[in-house]
Amino acid sequence: MKIGQSYEGTIKRQIYSAEEIAAAIERLAGRIAADFTGQPLLLLGVLKGALYVVTDLARAIALVPDGPSEIVVDYLCVSSYGNATRTSGEVRLLKDTTATVTGKNVVIVEDIVDNGLTLEYLSALLAERGPARLASCVLFDKPYHRRVDVALNYVGLRCPDEFVVGYGLDYQELFRNLPYLAQLQPWVFRVE
Ligand code: IMP
Repeated sequence: MKIGQSYEGTIKRQIYSAEEIAAAIERLAGRIAADFTGQPLLLLGVLKGALYVVTDLARAIALVPDGPSEIVVDYLCVSSYGNATRTSGEVRLLKDTTATVTGKNVVIVEDIVDNGLTLEYLSALLAERGPARLASCVLFDKPYHRRVDVALNYVGLRCPDEFVVGYGLDYQELFRNLPYLAQLQPWVFRVE
Protein backbone atom coordinates (compact mmCIF):
# COMPACT_ATOMS: atom_id res chain seq x y z
CA MET A 1 0.00 0.00 0.00
CA LYS A 2 1.50 3.33 -1.08
CA ILE A 3 1.50 6.07 1.53
CA GLY A 4 0.22 9.63 0.99
CA GLN A 5 2.29 12.75 1.34
CA SER A 6 1.31 13.42 4.98
CA TYR A 7 3.19 10.35 6.23
CA GLU A 8 5.84 10.00 3.54
CA GLY A 9 9.16 8.68 4.85
CA THR A 10 7.85 8.04 8.38
CA ILE A 11 7.02 4.32 8.17
CA LYS A 12 9.77 1.80 8.91
CA ARG A 13 7.68 -1.30 8.24
CA GLN A 14 4.14 -2.52 8.01
CA ILE A 15 3.26 -5.02 10.75
CA TYR A 16 -0.31 -5.97 9.79
CA SER A 17 -1.98 -4.98 6.52
CA ALA A 18 -5.50 -3.53 6.34
CA GLU A 19 -6.65 -6.91 5.00
CA GLU A 20 -5.10 -8.83 7.91
CA ILE A 21 -6.74 -6.44 10.35
CA ALA A 22 -10.12 -6.83 8.63
CA ALA A 23 -9.79 -10.62 8.85
CA ALA A 24 -8.94 -10.40 12.57
CA ILE A 25 -11.98 -8.18 13.19
CA GLU A 26 -14.16 -10.71 11.39
CA ARG A 27 -12.82 -13.53 13.59
CA LEU A 28 -13.47 -11.47 16.74
CA ALA A 29 -16.97 -10.63 15.50
CA GLY A 30 -17.74 -14.31 14.96
CA ARG A 31 -16.65 -15.25 18.47
CA ILE A 32 -18.47 -12.37 20.18
CA ALA A 33 -21.65 -12.94 18.14
CA ALA A 34 -21.65 -16.64 19.08
CA ASP A 35 -21.21 -15.87 22.79
CA PHE A 36 -24.11 -13.40 22.85
CA THR A 37 -26.58 -15.17 20.55
CA GLY A 38 -30.09 -13.85 21.06
CA GLN A 39 -29.02 -11.40 23.78
CA PRO A 40 -28.65 -7.63 23.73
CA LEU A 41 -25.07 -6.39 23.64
CA LEU A 42 -23.44 -3.08 24.54
CA LEU A 43 -20.11 -2.50 22.77
CA LEU A 44 -18.08 0.11 24.62
CA GLY A 45 -15.24 1.55 22.56
CA VAL A 46 -12.35 3.18 24.40
CA LEU A 47 -11.51 6.40 22.57
CA LYS A 48 -9.58 7.55 20.88
CA GLY A 49 -7.58 4.45 20.00
CA ALA A 50 -10.51 2.07 19.50
CA LEU A 51 -12.42 4.38 17.16
CA TYR A 52 -12.00 2.14 14.12
CA VAL A 53 -12.00 -1.19 15.97
CA VAL A 54 -15.38 -0.64 17.59
CA THR A 55 -17.08 0.68 14.45
CA ASP A 56 -15.72 -2.10 12.23
CA LEU A 57 -16.46 -4.74 14.89
CA ALA A 58 -20.06 -3.54 15.37
CA ARG A 59 -20.70 -3.78 11.63
CA ALA A 60 -19.03 -7.19 11.38
CA ILE A 61 -21.13 -8.56 14.26
CA ALA A 62 -24.28 -7.34 12.50
CA LEU A 63 -23.45 -9.64 9.57
CA VAL A 64 -23.03 -12.81 11.66
CA PRO A 65 -26.11 -15.05 11.56
CA ASP A 66 -27.55 -15.93 15.00
CA GLY A 67 -25.68 -13.10 16.72
CA PRO A 68 -26.91 -10.74 19.46
CA SER A 69 -30.56 -9.68 19.44
CA GLU A 70 -29.51 -6.02 19.40
CA ILE A 71 -26.26 -4.06 19.48
CA VAL A 72 -25.72 -0.65 21.02
CA VAL A 73 -22.40 1.10 20.41
CA ASP A 74 -21.16 3.59 22.95
CA TYR A 75 -17.87 5.20 23.93
CA LEU A 76 -15.69 6.11 26.82
CA CYS A 77 -12.82 8.51 26.37
CA VAL A 78 -9.71 8.21 28.51
CA SER A 79 -6.27 9.69 28.49
CA SER A 80 -3.43 7.75 30.01
CA TYR A 81 -0.40 9.45 31.45
CA GLY A 82 3.12 8.23 30.95
CA ASN A 83 5.96 9.01 28.59
CA ALA A 84 5.51 9.31 24.84
CA THR A 85 5.40 5.58 24.20
CA ARG A 86 4.31 3.94 27.48
CA THR A 87 1.43 4.55 29.90
CA SER A 88 1.84 4.82 33.67
CA GLY A 89 -1.60 3.55 34.65
CA GLU A 90 -2.69 6.97 35.74
CA VAL A 91 -5.86 7.13 33.70
CA ARG A 92 -8.14 10.13 33.42
CA LEU A 93 -11.75 9.61 32.34
CA LEU A 94 -12.46 12.37 29.82
CA LYS A 95 -15.91 11.15 28.75
CA ASP A 96 -18.10 8.60 30.44
CA THR A 97 -20.59 6.30 28.71
CA THR A 98 -23.94 7.69 27.62
CA ALA A 99 -25.56 4.27 27.91
CA THR A 100 -26.36 2.74 31.30
CA VAL A 101 -24.13 -0.20 32.11
CA THR A 102 -26.12 -1.71 35.00
CA GLY A 103 -27.74 -5.01 34.02
CA LYS A 104 -26.25 -4.98 30.49
CA ASN A 105 -24.02 -7.41 28.61
CA VAL A 106 -20.97 -5.23 28.08
CA VAL A 107 -17.90 -5.79 25.95
CA ILE A 108 -15.14 -3.21 26.41
CA VAL A 109 -13.36 -2.73 23.08
CA GLU A 110 -9.72 -1.63 23.26
CA ASP A 111 -7.18 -0.97 20.53
CA ILE A 112 -4.11 -2.37 22.28
CA VAL A 113 -3.15 -3.71 25.70
CA ASP A 114 0.42 -3.19 26.81
CA ASN A 115 1.06 -3.02 30.58
CA GLY A 116 -2.68 -3.62 31.16
CA LEU A 117 -3.25 -0.72 33.56
CA THR A 118 -5.74 1.15 31.36
CA LEU A 119 -7.95 -1.90 30.88
CA GLU A 120 -7.70 -2.78 34.57
CA TYR A 121 -8.89 0.72 35.50
CA LEU A 122 -11.82 0.55 33.06
CA SER A 123 -12.82 -2.99 34.06
CA ALA A 124 -12.95 -1.97 37.74
CA LEU A 125 -14.89 1.21 36.94
CA LEU A 126 -17.52 -0.64 34.91
CA ALA A 127 -17.74 -3.68 37.20
CA GLU A 128 -18.79 -1.35 40.05
CA ARG A 129 -21.89 -0.44 38.04
CA GLY A 130 -23.22 -4.00 38.07
CA PRO A 131 -23.31 -5.15 34.43
CA ALA A 132 -24.95 -8.55 33.75
CA ARG A 133 -21.75 -9.64 31.97
CA LEU A 134 -18.51 -7.77 31.45
CA ALA A 135 -15.96 -8.93 28.87
CA SER A 136 -13.01 -7.33 27.12
CA CYS A 137 -11.99 -7.38 23.49
CA VAL A 138 -8.60 -6.16 22.32
CA LEU A 139 -7.41 -6.00 18.74
CA PHE A 140 -3.65 -5.92 19.40
CA ASP A 141 -2.07 -7.68 22.35
CA LYS A 142 1.40 -6.63 23.51
CA PRO A 143 1.94 -9.08 26.39
CA TYR A 144 5.65 -8.40 27.08
CA HIS A 145 5.42 -5.74 29.81
CA ARG A 146 2.23 -6.58 31.71
CA ARG A 147 2.10 -5.07 35.16
CA VAL A 148 -1.31 -6.52 36.04
CA ASP A 149 -2.95 -9.81 35.20
CA VAL A 150 -5.93 -8.39 33.37
CA ALA A 151 -8.43 -10.78 31.73
CA LEU A 152 -8.68 -10.55 27.95
CA ASN A 153 -11.70 -12.43 26.63
CA TYR A 154 -11.28 -11.73 22.91
CA VAL A 155 -7.84 -11.09 21.39
CA GLY A 156 -7.26 -10.25 17.72
CA LEU A 157 -3.58 -10.18 16.84
CA ARG A 158 -0.26 -10.47 18.66
CA CYS A 159 1.71 -7.25 18.40
CA PRO A 160 5.53 -7.25 18.42
CA ASP A 161 7.33 -5.60 21.33
CA GLU A 162 7.46 -2.25 19.54
CA PHE A 163 5.66 1.05 19.68
CA VAL A 164 3.15 0.83 16.84
CA VAL A 165 0.81 3.22 15.07
CA GLY A 166 -2.12 3.08 12.68
CA TYR A 167 -5.68 1.79 12.65
CA GLY A 168 -6.56 4.14 15.53
CA LEU A 169 -3.21 4.08 17.33
CA ASP A 170 -1.33 7.36 17.44
CA TYR A 171 2.00 8.90 18.17
CA GLN A 172 1.32 12.40 19.49
CA GLU A 173 -2.13 12.35 17.84
CA LEU A 174 -0.72 11.54 14.40
CA PHE A 175 -0.90 8.30 12.39
CA ARG A 176 -4.34 7.19 13.66
CA ASN A 177 -5.74 7.23 10.13
CA LEU A 178 -3.12 4.89 8.68
CA PRO A 179 -5.20 1.95 7.44
CA TYR A 180 -2.59 -0.58 8.60
CA LEU A 181 -0.45 -1.20 11.69
CA ALA A 182 3.11 0.07 11.38
CA GLN A 183 6.37 0.73 13.13
CA LEU A 184 7.78 4.23 12.74
CA GLN A 185 11.22 5.33 11.61
CA PRO A 186 13.34 6.20 14.68
CA TRP A 187 13.83 9.80 13.51
CA VAL A 188 10.10 10.49 14.07
CA PHE A 189 10.60 10.16 17.86
CA ARG A 190 13.55 12.55 17.89
CA VAL A 191 11.74 15.46 16.23
CA GLU A 192 10.08 17.85 18.66
P1 IMP B 1 -1.62 0.02 28.75
O1 IMP B 1 -2.26 0.79 29.87
O2 IMP B 1 -0.12 0.02 28.85
O3 IMP B 1 -2.16 -1.38 28.59
O4 IMP B 1 -1.86 0.79 27.41
C1 IMP B 1 -3.08 1.01 26.90
C2 IMP B 1 -3.12 2.26 26.04
O5 IMP B 1 -1.80 2.79 25.76
C3 IMP B 1 -3.72 1.93 24.71
O6 IMP B 1 -5.12 2.05 24.72
C4 IMP B 1 -3.03 2.92 23.79
O7 IMP B 1 -3.77 4.13 23.77
C5 IMP B 1 -1.69 3.16 24.42
N1 IMP B 1 -0.64 2.32 23.77
C6 IMP B 1 -0.03 1.22 24.28
N2 IMP B 1 0.87 0.72 23.40
C7 IMP B 1 0.82 1.54 22.32
C8 IMP B 1 1.51 1.55 21.05
O8 IMP B 1 2.36 0.70 20.72
N3 IMP B 1 1.19 2.56 20.19
C9 IMP B 1 0.26 3.52 20.48
N4 IMP B 1 -0.42 3.54 21.64
C10 IMP B 1 -0.13 2.57 22.56
